[in-house]
Amino acid sequence: MKHLHSTLAVVLLIALIIAIVITLVNYAGNKAYNRKIALIGLISAHLQLVIGAVLYFTSPLGLSSFSGENMKNSLSRLYFLEHPLMMIIAIVLITMGYSKAKKIADAKKANQTVLIFYILGLIFILSRIPWSTWSILN
Ligand code: HEM
Ligand code: HEM
Repeated sequence: MKHLHSTLAVVLLIALIIAIVITLVNYAGNKAYNRKIALIGLISAHLQLVIGAVLYFTSPLGLSSFSGENMKNSLSRLYFLEHPLMMIIAIVLITMGYSKAKKIADAKKANQTVLIFYILGLIFILSRIPWSTWSILN
C-alpha cells in the first residue's frame, strides 16, 4: 500500500502538471477545453485519496499515532494531521474545478476554471508532501 501510494503520488504530480500545461496552452490559444486531460488528473487524485485513506487506518504513522504528545513533533504531525487534511482539501478543489468546468459551455471560461482549481490543488499537494522522508527520494 505504501509503495502504491508513493508511485501514485508521482503519477498524480505528472498528471496534474500535464493537465495544467495543456489547459494553459488551450487557454492562451483560445482553443477548446480538453476534458479528457483534466479527467486523467481527477482520476489519479481520486485513486490516491482511496489508497491514502487505507494507509491512514493501517500505517503506524497514520491515525494510530494521533496523540497530544505527537502533536509537538512536526514530522509526526505532518503524517497524522497536516498531510491527510491538506491532501483531502486539494482533491476537493481538483474535483470542484473539474465538475464546474464540465458545466461551462464557454471554452475560455472552462479552461480558466480548471487552471485556477488545479493549480491551487497542486500547490496544496506540494506544500504537504513529506519531502524529507519520502522513500523515493531518500
Ligand atoms: C473516497 C473515494 C471517492 C470519492 C469521495 C469520490 C468523489 C467524487 C465526486 C464528488 C465526483 C463528482 C465530480 C463531478 O461532479 O463530476 C467524482 C467523479 C468521478 N470520480 Fe470519484 N471519488 C472517489 C473515488 C474514485 C475512484 C477510486 C475513482 C477511479 C479510479 C474515481 C473516478 C471518478 C471519475 C471517473 C469521476 C467522474 C468524472 C466525470 O464526471 O466525467 N473516483 N468522484
Ligand atoms: C494528493 C494526494 C496525496 C499525495 C500526492 C500523497 C503523497 C504521499 C507521499 C509521497 C508519501 C510518502 C510515502 C513514502 O515515504 O514512501 C505519503 C505517505 C502517507 N500518506 Fe499520502 N498522499 C496523498 C494523499 C493522502 C491522503 C488523502 C491520506 C489519508 C487520508 C494520506 C495518508 C498518508 C499516510 C498515512 C502516509 C504514511 C505512510 C507510511 O509511511 O506508512 N495521503 N503520501
